[in-house]
Amino acid sequence: MCGIVGYIGKEQAAPILLDGLARLEYRGYDSAGVCVAEQGLLHVVKSKGRLQNLCEKTDNGRTLPGCVGIGHTRWATHGEPNDINSHPHLSQNGRIALVHNGIIENYLELREALEEKGIVFTSDTDSEVVAQLLEYCLREAGSVLDALYMVLHRIEGAYALGIICADEPDKMYAARKDAPLLLGYGDGCSYIASDVTALVKYTREVSYMEDGEVAILTRDNITVLNAMELPVQKEHHHIDWEVSAAEKGGYPHFMFKEIMEEPEALRRAIHPRIKDGRIDLGNLNLTKEMLQGLRRLYIVACGSSYHVGMVGKYNIEKLTRMPVEVTLASEFRYCDPIVDDRTLVIIISQSGETLDTMAALREAKARGARILSIVNVVGSSIARESDDVLYTWAGPEIAVATTKAYSTQLAVLNILTIELAHLLGTVTDERYLQLVAELQRIPEKLDTVLESRETIQYYASQYFNHNSVFFIGRNVDFALGLEGSLKLKEISYIHSEAYASGELKHGTISLIEDGTLVVALGTYGALFDKAMSNVVEVKARGANVLALTTESKASQMKKNADGMLIIPDTEDLFLPSLGVVPLQLFAYYVALQRGCDIDKPRNLAKSVTVE
Ligand code: F6R
Repeated sequence: MCGIVGYIGKEQAAPILLDGLARLEYRGYDSAGVCVAEQGLLHVVKSKGRLQNLCEKTDNGRTLPGCVGIGHTRWATHGEPNDINSHPHLSQNGRIALVHNGIIENYLELREALEEKGIVFTSDTDSEVVAQLLEYCLREAGSVLDALYMVLHRIEGAYALGIICADEPDKMYAARKDAPLLLGYGDGCSYIASDVTALVKYTREVSYMEDGEVAILTRDNITVLNAMELPVQKEHHHIDWEVSAAEKGGYPHFMFKEIMEEPEALRRAIHPRIKDGRIDLGNLNLTKEMLQGLRRLYIVACGSSYHVGMVGKYNIEKLTRMPVEVTLASEFRYCDPIVDDRTLVIIISQSGETLDTMAALREAKARGARILSIVNVVGSSIARESDDVLYTWAGPEIAVATTKAYSTQLAVLNILTIELAHLLGTVTDERYLQLVAELQRIPEKLDTVLESRETIQYYASQYFNHNSVFFIGRNVDFALGLEGSLKLKEISYIHSEAYASGELKHGTISLIEDGTLVVALGTYGALFDKAMSNVVEVKARGANVLALTTESKASQMKKNADGMLIIPDTEDLFLPSLGVVPLQLFAYYVALQRGCDIDKPRNLAKSVTVE
């Protein structure tokens, strides 16, 4: 949430800042702004709404001179999205400019204290208090750096900060606590950014700031100090993916591109982890003894990542007979979870920065649990704080609605599931080898699912004007329905709900009337007959049924469904891996028909770094 970028070098800063912001816009798109230092003054330009407005105002940054600057794209928390509340914020004397991602929890108290001292605030934001406090502390402190440390001791909450000062035009400052921020090392220039996507066009050498660290950037050097103001030697990381991975590459939307990339992303997630037909999880130190010693296994995540966990619960319990508890991270952290050193907590996160998930991780770790995370963004906070990490290697995911990250998370969780069953001896070696072999065929099967996209587009054109949709299914089909429903509602703004089919009769069926669209998921063979009965029940009450099933069950399902989405047959374990893609495409085409802003749905942002 909120994207930050900063540049100090020899080039004109503003065009670089705007280019970086364009790649960060998925983090928030309520407003955007930049500030550059030039001839002893700070120049700020901000604009409500999309970044395009700011680009137009500044002729893509060309009208703003200056070789040092900071930029911000905002997801509003405190104060409505307008020009005044947009970042960068200036201190009262206009000599300090600041961009902030996160929430300053004690901002009201600090603001009141500063107002009593005569400082006049212009915005409603929590962020402005940091700029004002910095100016105030500078009256007493010997340097901007000293003043910054004074500020950091007084503010509470989460922050990634980028700061420039008119009186120190050759420096930029950055600080981080519980919000992502990385440093980029260029040739005669230095950068800060919330995410590598903003920097990869300019430099591939980055380091990740840790909580409590402060960075002082000049053109030629970046010095990092810890909370005790002692120098820190930062490890440099090389970013090896191509710039094009974060560009649309001719596709109309990032979401569509990312769906089309799923087979390839799955190959990257699966194939390096299979050696000679067997799973090889590298350094992941799982043993039979350790697994048998476990008292509890939790899966903790938010949103779609949580839905992956829901599928995982069914699959892990089926294959290993270990009980699994799947919990929303936002609930886990406040429910006094029963966790100790005989608990394994699997954390799932695309961004690796989701605040609730991060807090849940820390809570579990503090109680002694071992943390195994499944993460996409390499070097992200969750990855760094986990005991073990399995990366999904999906590549950058830009569309706010996740697609390829969901699929790769699920693939990695399936690999882990099979490995757990193998280690525990709950599957025979023969069965283990069968599952591993089928796992490797999933990307090709997904290619065939994508080939049927015109059929899916056709159904979207039939149903796009419905106001309310139900997704029903049992077992893994219920878990799949949760994701199908979320995809549809988040990008098309159609109200939709996912129900375990068996629950319909306990209340929800009263909402089914003539023409209600029900997406009936019937991929899971063991419960197919039950799925059919539920289809018949809702049909009898006038529902329009769009069914999702497998090739081998299609002819039976066709007898009752109005429309059919068909996936290839596979092992039960992998049905959701194939089934999710038609649902993603259905949501995509429905949103397209409705003229929605698919990659940037209203009110959302990709990386949820506030609570
Ligand atoms: C929905 C979506 C979100 C995320 C959720 C968790 O399409 O993308 O529901 O799944 O915000 O994000 P991560 O996985 O980054 O922790």
